[in-house]
Amino acid sequence: MKVEIRTVAGYAPKKVATNEDIIRIKNIETNDQWIQDHFGVKTRTLAEGEKASDLGAEATKRALEKAGLKKEQLDAIIAATMTPDQPCPSTACIIQDKLGVNGIPAFDISAACSGYVYALDAAVRLMGNGLQGDSYRHVALVATEKMSDCIDWSDRVVCPIFGDYAATTILSQSDRDKFIASYLYADGSGRDVLKIPRGEKYLKMEGKEVYAFAIDLFPKLVRRVLEKAKLGVKDIDWVFPHQANTKILEKGFETLGIPMEKTLINMDRYGNTAAASIPMAMAEAVEKGLFKRGQRILATGFGAGWTGASILFEW
Ligand SMILES: CC(C)(COP(=O)(O)OP(=O)(O)OC[C@H]1O[C@@H](n2cnc3c(N)ncnc32)[C@H](O)[C@@H]1OP(=O)(O)O)[C@@H](O)C(=O)NCCC(=O)NCCS
Repeated sequence: MKVEIRTVAGYAPKKVATNEDIIRIKNIETNDQWIQDHFGVKTRTLAEGEKASDLGAEATKRALEKAGLKKEQLDAIIAATMTPDQPCPSTACIIQDKLGVNGIPAFDISAACSGYVYALDAAVRLMGNGLQGDSYRHVALVATEKMSDCIDWSDRVVCPIFGDYAATTILSQSDRDKFIASYLYADGSGRDVLKIPRGEKYLKMEGKEVYAFAIDLFPKLVRRVLEKAKLGVKDIDWVFPHQANTKILEKGFETLGIPMEKTLINMDRYGNTAAASIPMAMAEAVEKGLFKRGQRILATGFGAGWTGASILFEW
């Protein structure tokens, strides 16, 4: 079966907090300029009274509307999240129930900031390599994060980075296979550098190690998937990396020799939203009509685990 991305739509919670807001309200010893210089974040969206499943369900309603599909036409829900409503059951199951599409398969993929690309790869294989009697015509990939649930507001380095957001990608059967190549990677020796330990609430980060890892892996992930596809950076129209922080993105694009015009960054308004950060930018690109039919798009995620993943597809 051949698969394409039909659309991507996002949902941001209503509350917008500026750097000055969080400095004042949370009494943090930092300043607006430092946050902007180091992370590229000016404001972040924060969910109040909404869980990751609520954000995800809302994004999915919007994506279905944009795709011109009824919810009954969905054949599966995959959620990519590192901030599930609860450890068990999956956030995908809760989203399924909130949407009222009970009965279709629903499961989560946990690969931190690489989760979107891991889940995209899984969805394409699920739809493309159907076992006998299976037919997944439309799948909702819901990347949803309520990062504010795991932020320690007394940690002045971690707390300004993140925000809450959800974006749903609708994958549909197509007359032509739009997915070209993917590359998935993990190295569990990095498991202590960025983590939420069992029984604890907050995300702990060794900032310098995360930075070194990201600037090393991001270009490698791009090159590996291009090698698999036998293409060069010049053959790619758009690159959508995980929006970790703008310094990491600028360094990566410079190393690869790719102009920043080939991406769209919106983490300055929403913060780093982990698994949701790639489709968060793609949703805005779709909204603005930036993608043209036949253009080649490369999405790449990297983060806790360590994990990393790249996928290349045509619009
Ligand atoms: C966290 C990070 C910004 C630290 O950068 P760095 O240049 O190594 O910063 P340092 O820890 O050496 O601190 C530099 C200075 O800023 C100060 N500083 C640290 N945190 C600060 C804050 N929140 N506000 C203001 N000043 C701060 C330090 O005290 C230090 O001051 P000094 O030079 O007078 O001693 C950087 O390592 C990074 O970007 N890591 C990746 C984080 C990330 O993207 N995480 C998301 C992953 S998905």
